[in-house]
Amino acid sequence: SWTMKGFIDEAVETIRKQVGEEGRVICGLSGGVDSSVAALLLHRAIGPRLQCIFVDNGVLRQGERAQVEALFVDRFHVPLKTVDARERFLSKLAGVTDPEQKRKIIGREFIAVFEEASRDVQDAGFLAQGTLYPDVIESVSWKGPSVTIKSHHNVGGLPEHMKLKLVEPLRELFKDEVRALGRELGLPDEMVSRQPFPGPGLAIRVLGEVNEKRLDLVRRADAIVQEEIHKAGLYKEVWQAFAVLLPVQSVGVMGDERTYESTCVLRAVTSVDGMTADWARIPYPILEKISSRITNEVRGINRVVYDISSKPPATIEWE
Ligand code: XMP
Repeated sequence: SWTMKGFIDEAVETIRKQVGEEGRVICGLSGGVDSSVAALLLHRAIGPRLQCIFVDNGVLRQGERAQVEALFVDRFHVPLKTVDARERFLSKLAGVTDPEQKRKIIGREFIAVFEEASRDVQDAGFLAQGTLYPDVIESVSWKGPSVTIKSHHNVGGLPEHMKLKLVEPLRELFKDEVRALGRELGLPDEMVSRQPFPGPGLAIRVLGEVNEKRLDLVRRADAIVQEEIHKAGLYKEVWQAFAVLLPVQSVGVMGDERTYESTCVLRAVTSVDGMTADWARIPYPILEKISSRITNEVRGINRVVYDISSKPPATIEWE
């Protein structure tokens, strides 16, 4: 009968056969479940002949890069190269407000940065990806080009001369099977049950212009949302919960002072697959806690609103 252990043994065997005795494999880590599980499986199969690459694109959430490094380097001893490309992405995003433009820019830069980093990996012949079965049959479509390097999106964009052969050890699995596999491989629960986070990252959660200052606001507000949702035991109940920064200022009061500062949206939805979604009925006391913490702790945000729109007609993300 089918068991997860059996699957791992077989997958390891298949990877070894495909990659051979000497082949080296590059794997892009995104911080998400799929690429993490793919990387760990690859690592089990070929050990140090795996080279992971993580691109810090400047639109990550608070602590995200440190988490990936702690997990893969410190805990699993997986060879990992982090590319700090924050400036490069942010300078390309400067002045851009159109959501599709943002996605395009991030997708394009990601491929360029990833390709440069891959070039430094001697004798790499393979590119590993956490493509799942639903990706293969393309049941999910986003509002624009994705920054993940899934084959049907962006590998086509990797330069021809790289001639990397694809290794896709998860391509027969569904998401819940990937999670089970991750657990079996020792991935901690907080990684296995992570809520989805879009490739274009915080760039599509800062409505309007993306710059350091506005990213800092949404990042700090979002960190509070994550913390309070976890504390309330709601993290697994909701499909996604996050903060969005609006290009809107409104009047407020602080002490004797009038303020004129940014508005932040709390978006929280329940969903089965992200295709449709309902706004989450977060209990008032938790909404209150999140709102008062954001307005007290994040100077520059003086108002928090709660998004009570379902998908359709609204989408989960605001851009
Ligand atoms: P929407 O906003 O279309 O989102 O209701 C559905 C799901 O997809 C995620 N999403 C993206 N993921 N690149 C991604 O990797 C993207 O460009 C993108 N846009 C939306 C969103 O977070 C939700 O889970």
